[in-house]
Amino acid sequence: MIAPSVLAADYARLGEHVREAEEAGARWFQLDVMDGRFVPNLAAGLPVAKALRASTEAFIDAHLMVHEPGRFLAAFADAGADLITIHQEASLHLHRDLVEIRQLGCRSGVAINPATPAETIGEVLHLVDLVLVMTVNPGFGGQRFIESALPKLDRVRDMAEARGLAGLRLQVDGGVDVETAPRAAEAGADVLIAGSAVFRGTGSVAQNFRALEASVATHV
Ligand code: DX5
Repeated sequence: MIAPSVLAADYARLGEHVREAEEAGARWFQLDVMDGRFVPNLAAGLPVAKALRASTEAFIDAHLMVHEPGRFLAAFADAGADLITIHQEASLHLHRDLVEIRQLGCRSGVAINPATPAETIGEVLHLVDLVLVMTVNPGFGGQRFIESALPKLDRVRDMAEARGLAGLRLQVDGGVDVETAPRAAEAGADVLIAGSAVFRGTGSVAQNFRALEASVATHV
């Protein structure tokens, strides 16, 4: 599945951009939340989360690139997130935070940066619905895809299967375009986040989204 990241959308026309992607078939949108501490950038607080929720009934995935994310879980659940993903590197109490996300009625996700080994999340795989393997160092859109992150998808899948966790979703995020998307799908990713390739590509939002979908059609 291709899921647009609205970080690259035109915030002055957020609703319109989301509708264009939805009309082209998008069913899942990622909201990148950045605190200027865990990552060297600021992006999308609760007002943007609420604006996104108000503009679509599609699935909203809040990717919190936030230091000590436990402080904001209830607020993003209230703002309408369906899934909340937090970083293994940012949470002091990862087990507690992931349990809380599910207690808030949301799906839970854990993200690992390119330098973070897959094995660091082995103890919490039973607490998550999704694992996000970052294919860029988080903080900015439009970066180059880090190919060396892909083998981690297999390792996460193996760890999950060893624990009988068949339904776990694997996501990649960063540098996904019509060249890299097929490689990520081939490596085992089921949800591919794309920002610039959807909202800043050469065609319209709809054309860009469909081109990405076509690039992974053989893996669906
Ligand atoms: C980066 C974010 C990504 C980013 C993707 O830290 O997590 O979601 O917006 O943008 P592209 O697809 O442009 O790399």
